[in-house]
Amino acid sequence: MATPPFSLAGKTILVTGAAKRIGRGIALRLAAEGAQVAIHYHNSEADARRTAAECSGAPLFRADLASVAEIKAMFAQVEQQLGRLDGLVNNAARFTRFDPLELTEKDWDFIHSVNLKAVFFCCQQGARLMKKSGGGRIVNISSLGGIRPWAEHAHYCASKAGVIMLTRALAKAFAPHITVNSVAPGVIPFEDIDERGRQLIEVTPAGRGGTPGEIADAVAYFLKASEFITGQVLAVDGGLSQR
Ligand SMILES: NC(=O)c1ccc[n+]([C@@H]2O[C@H](COP(=O)([O-])OP(=O)(O)OC[C@H]3O[C@@H](n4cnc5c(N)ncnc54)[C@H](OP(=O)(O)O)[C@@H]3O)[C@@H](O)[C@H]2O)c1
Repeated sequence: MATPPFSLAGKTILVTGAAKRIGRGIALRLAAEGAQVAIHYHNSEADARRTAAECSGAPLFRADLASVAEIKAMFAQVEQQLGRLDGLVNNAARFTRFDPLELTEKDWDFIHSVNLKAVFFCCQQGARLMKKSGGGRIVNISSLGGIRPWAEHAHYCASKAGVIMLTRALAKAFAPHITVNSVAPGVIPFEDIDERGRQLIEVTPAGRGGTPGEIADAVAYFLKASEFITGQVLAVDGGLSQR
């Protein structure tokens, strides 16, 4: 991925949490641009199979990302089956809501094990693999919640702010041939949207929620960008972070 013309055609790119919703949108978009997409999932096997079928029969990789051992096993399988890795999109995450006065250690670890620790170890394992073929591209999906404080999501906000700093620090650590960037979605509504989500959409300058396709556009941009663009965070939020 180090030299122009920065096309995704033929590039091997692993997307975590790609069975449905935003991850699915990213996988479909990358496949449409000719990438060999690898679909990671955990519990959503049927959805993952559907997404993989729509991505020209993409290979599937199952792992509980809360386990570093399973992360390592997944990257070993990717290497064994696909032979190389050019891109990694760390999309999988958990989302919970708690009054910080009531939050337990278990609640904290539930979020941080997947949202932050797993992102670090996926970056580590992915970068080791990318180095073998000369370089690559990592895109971490953070959140507007990693930029703006949300009172009942303090634990989630901290995990996503961590993803943003991880992105910046790893951009230095993995330079020059592996770039690390982040896309920070605003509200991307699905059928389970709650009252708080609706209220956020009401105050979004764009006047609507975003779509998986709009997140995928930003991801594709970073995957195709030159090595000179690294350590950056792009909020795709309809202007909500400017309020
Ligand atoms: N939707 C939004 O409005 C919004 C806003 C800001 C940021 N984001 C970020 O955008 C990304 C995608 O959002 P989304 O709403 O599409 O996410 P989501 O549906 O809540 O989660 C995506 C996937 O993460 C996977 N996952 C969760 N825990 C896992 C674990 N322990 N091991 C492996 N995989 C696990 C799940 O895979 P399985 O289903 O296969 O178990 C799930 O399908 C996330 O990083 C999220 O934080 C979303």
